[in-house]
Amino acid sequence: MSTSPSPRYARILGTGSHLPPQRLTNADLAAQLARDGIETSDEWIVERTGIRARHFAAEGVTASDLALPAARAALEAAGVAAEEIDLIIVATSTPDMVFPSTAALLQQKLGVAGCAAFDVQAVCSGFVYALTVADSMIKTGAANKALVVGAEVFSRILDFKDRTTCVLFGDGAGAVVLGASDAPGILASELHADGRHVDILCVPGQVAGGAVTGHPFLKMDGQGVFKLAVTVLEKVARSVLEKAGKSEADIDWLIPHQANIRIMQGTAKKLKMPLDKLIVTVDEHGNTSAASIPLALDVAVRSGKVKRGDTVMLEGVGGGFTWGAVLLDF
Ligand code: UT7
Repeated sequence: MSTSPSPRYARILGTGSHLPPQRLTNADLAAQLARDGIETSDEWIVERTGIRARHFAAEGVTASDLALPAARAALEAAGVAAEEIDLIIVATSTPDMVFPSTAALLQQKLGVAGCAAFDVQAVCSGFVYALTVADSMIKTGAANKALVVGAEVFSRILDFKDRTTCVLFGDGAGAVVLGASDAPGILASELHADGRHVDILCVPGQVAGGAVTGHPFLKMDGQGVFKLAVTVLEKVARSVLEKAGKSEADIDWLIPHQANIRIMQGTAKKLKMPLDKLIVTVDEHGNTSAASIPLALDVAVRSGKVKRGDTVMLEGVGGGFTWGAVLLDF
């Protein structure tokens, strides 16, 4: 008589994060922009976005530099040595180089070699994409212990003459260590993209012929992104809950991409979730793109909010247009 093998899940073993030391409040940034004749205010930024401060990496600091301390913190929290990791995925839209991948550079900085390492490029949805890929590889047995990182230096691609975008973003990194487990773990996930909306959020430049050609700064139709985001975030959350056989009431913590407090609160309300179940770090970090979700998760874990056994919904949305969600038992 044959017995079917017990299901294999991926479970978060530890989390970590890192912010570069330079912190700019809205007032600091407004003063800096004023020197170039650009007008903004703490009042406008807080009212429209909920952002009060962001961190910017010092000159020369790269995404892999920010990823390294975040990864080390996650490994330490997991009680896992870097040598035990057999898969490294970095989600980033601000890689150190055109190639090789930021994941390969991180692997080298961690002092290990041999395991698979690659980047995922799905802009602000990058971390949920990377987590879903790592989950799939662990479930199939292609990996046993994965390091999944979101790391960004968005300050490098901001046009500080464009007040509609430069006040919104920040730099940082967040990481998780995922391990194979008999018990869940990641319960369900779903990823989407709609390339018809490429133009509403993009950095259309490229490296060609020895120079950067095209526009090398972030361009965004804020209202276009806002409208799409509120629709897809509710829909994908419901779909993932259904896949997992759960309801909104089962979610202990909602950790959406940290771009705008109004989008985040709107999503929580649509899911009939009290706002105290919403993890908010956008006020202190700004929008750190692929780093925002693992940064928020790590802050929530280390502050004692997210505890072992809690059910957590992670939701990403961003350029591409991309979106997705991961429901997990922490
Ligand atoms: O990470 C990917 C996901 N990204 C997002 O989720 C971003 C989604 N979008 C948003 O968060 C919002 O659309 C923004 C925060 C970007 C903008 O907020 P809004 O309420 O949609 O403002 P708006 O674009 O309609 O601009 C309102 C006014 C405009 O002036 P007028 O035309 O009404 O005179 C802007 O010129 O605010 C002006 N404005 C500013 N004023 C002071 C735009 N940026 C600024 C600024 N400071 N920094």
